[in-house]
Amino acid sequence: MKVLAFAASNSNKSINKTLIHYAVKQLPSNIEVETLDINDYELPIYSVDLEQAHGIPSSVDRFLAKIAEADLLLISYAEHNANYTVAYKNLFDWATRKNMEVYQNKPIIMLSTSPGEGGANNVLSMAINSAPFFGGSVLGSLSVPSYYENFDNETNELINPDLAAQLKELLHTISARK
Ligand SMILES: Cc1cc2nc3c(=O)[nH]c(=O)nc-3n(C[C@H](O)[C@H](O)[C@H](O)COP(=O)(O)O)c2cc1C
Repeated sequence: MKVLAFAASNSNKSINKTLIHYAVKQLPSNIEVETLDINDYELPIYSVDLEQAHGIPSSVDRFLAKIAEADLLLISYAEHNANYTVAYKNLFDWATRKNMEVYQNKPIIMLSTSPGEGGANNVLSMAINSAPFFGGSVLGSLSVPSYYENFDNETNELINPDLAAQLKELLHTISARK
């Protein structure tokens, strides 16, 4: 079982990256995990004209290859104006130009968090609802609201016991699939 984990944010101080790191730490040590940073797949803003003139950049192949190598994806979505961050949308759009089934029939656990009470639920719902169009099969999801109240940035722990229990249960579906 190989898990590919990443946050759909290009922020160096991303709270979704922190949540992903916490979630990864909860997984049993016999599960292989690779965590990627979408900053390592920087691309020009998608344009039909650019694609026609220069084709699809090689970082798109590198990103799709990482997904292809994985048995399961663990993604935490940051929300900008009820949507994906520009960085992830751009990477995703480029990726669809190579393969509409970006998620390549992998099971996915989807997370999200934001400082607000909504917990980035808009983007999470959108990602869940659209996943089948992109070859994604969502096993489960969790939105963590009010990040700074529920997560301790000093200890890097989810300190809300209910949310921690929900995440633990969700992650158990990974070890149960081995
Ligand atoms: C341009 C912009 C738009 C945002 N829109 C939303 C929003 O629609 N909903 C929300 O919950 N938070 C919103 N936020 C706050 C983000 O949730 C917050 O910046 C969070 O840290 C982003 O996740 P990240 O740290 O993983 O990148 C927005 C932030 C920015 C900069």
